[in-house]
Amino acid sequence: MLEIQNLTLHADGRSLIKDLSLVVPGDGITALIGPSGCGKTSVLKWMAGILPDAFQTHGTALLDGKPISLPHRGLCYQPQSDALFPWLTIAENAAMGLEIAGLPRRIALAQVTALFAPFGLAGCEAQFPAQLSGGMRQRAAFLRTIVQDSRLVLLDEPFSALDAVTRLRMQDWLLSRLSDRPRGVLLVTHDLHEATGIADRILVMAANPGRIIAEIDVPGQPGARTEAILADLRETLKTLLLEQTP
Ligand SMILES: Nc1ncnc2c1ncn2[C@@H]1O[C@H](COP(=O)(O)OP(=O)(O)OP(=O)(O)O)[C@@H](O)[C@H]1O
Ligand SMILES: [Mg+2]
Repeated sequence: MLEIQNLTLHADGRSLIKDLSLVVPGDGITALIGPSGCGKTSVLKWMAGILPDAFQTHGTALLDGKPISLPHRGLCYQPQSDALFPWLTIAENAAMGLEIAGLPRRIALAQVTALFAPFGLAGCEAQFPAQLSGGMRQRAAFLRTIVQDSRLVLLDEPFSALDAVTRLRMQDWLLSRLSDRPRGVLLVTHDLHEATGIADRILVMAANPGRIIAEIDVPGQPGARTEAILADLRETLKTLLLEQTP
């Protein structure tokens, strides 16, 4: 379980995040939603230990109750931009996280390329990022992140560039992966269908300064909820978000 306590972020003399505390359980998906610019990416970058020097930060991160310094190898992060290396092939990019974790390159490549077909990337192994569409690059970045053996996974809008059908496939794939290998996921998304459909809990953020204004436990099993539950919850979330939108 990851706990963030009293996170405060300042940049350019502005208070971007104030006293934000949240918990990501070690099992299941916690969705983080909130208006554009409220600070979701900044919070994830802080957790990943890659926030630029322009930010002044204050806050504590605990993993299973113990304070940790960031970055921490127990936390794996997929940035909002795909951040693929342009000089590496798609297979090499996807294998990069496993290689950094110490797996021999041949084994890392074999593990990721076995997933190229279900990810709709078959035949792209030897291509370079510039030769692929945004949605294909995003799936390669998701693959690079999700194959790693970290305790917690931080995903910043991982499916935002995907068409509706591919997005549903990747959501199903993620749920099935998590049922085989339970771990905690913090999923930033603007898609209320995605948040209500696959998350166990939803955290709602407000802006100016960024903070959590609601925590909702979603009833029913992810991926198997009735349309009545989903529609009701989407309405609740829409109302909360509208109240935050000028
Ligand atoms: N390097 C930076 N220096 C100063 N301010 C920054 C920097 N990066 C982001 N910000 C500011 O931090 C605020 C939060 O940005 P952030 O990208 O975290 O929002 P977000 O909630 O992820 O938005 P979106 O939903 O559009 O991705 C914004 O006001 C933005 O201008
Ligand atoms: Mg963002």
